Amino acid sequence: MMNTSDIETLRQELAGKNPRYILKKALTLFDNIAISFSGAEDVVLIDIAHSIRKDIQVFTLDTGRLHPETYRFIETVRKHYQMDIELLTPDRTVLDEFVKRKGLFSFYEDGHEECCKIRKVEPLRRKLVHVDAWITGQRHDQSPATRQDITEVQVDGVFSAPGHPLIKFNPLLNWKSAQVWDYIEAHQVPYNPLHSKGFVSIGCEPCTRPILPHEHERAGRWWWEESTKKECGLHVEHSKTPS
Ligand code: ADX
Ligand code: SF4
Repeated sequence: MMNTSDIETLRQELAGKNPRYILKKALTLFDNIAISFSGAEDVVLIDIAHSIRKDIQVFTLDTGRLHPETYRFIETVRKHYQMDIELLTPDRTVLDEFVKRKGLFSFYEDGHEECCKIRKVEPLRRKLVHVDAWITGQRHDQSPATRQDITEVQVDGVFSAPGHPLIKFNPLLNWKSAQVWDYIEAHQVPYNPLHSKGFVSIGCEPCTRPILPHEHERAGRWWWEESTKKECGLHVEHSKTPS
């Protein structure tokens, strides 16, 4: 198990490094590690990781509300790389009770937190108990408001449990969106067809819309809410979201 000083040494080693270097290090240090794949341009993580190690674990949070294009894309990726992609689903009893109580679109009225907690955060929590480290596609340029303090490697402040420090790697951290798209183009990586229809950041269907050229990448996510609240709890505890 890594202690605080090991993590600090690793953090310094990985600072400013490219995605391949970070992924290689992550996959060398941890056997029981998984990529969290949203079905969007973070497919780049899968492409690079797959060229390093074939048996990499990948999971997607299947909220039940993803776009049809995203479900098809997940299947395309599964076939392209001939790999398993584990779909993590919400607890049925909790979800049934929630939908019965508040219907299918309560997030437009009282915010996305409750729905995201049930459909994303809790399924993720159940998965992360079983791994030592996870890999995400977060980047600094996705959100000036909430993603500036992230580092290439960190002890997960949301999902670490007592006695089980969970390590989180963010290999794409320093890449700008354009670099991700250059990679996709150059390496002929399959991508979600929604990206050709004006969608940049892609989440659940009712909570994502295309953006205009002058708008920021995450402007199309939970667009009816204030920009500093555009985190669903996967990466920032809601109580710590800037208000
Ligand atoms: S979110 O917190 O707003 O939903 P975002 O869409 O920016 O996250 O994606 C950042 C990273 O979070 C992705 O690259 C991926 O690692 C993880 N992530 C987001 N949504 C999902 C999902 N549905 N399934 C798995 N991982 C996800
Ligand atoms: Fe629910 Fe929207 Fe969050 Fe998806 S993004 S879990 S539909 S509130």
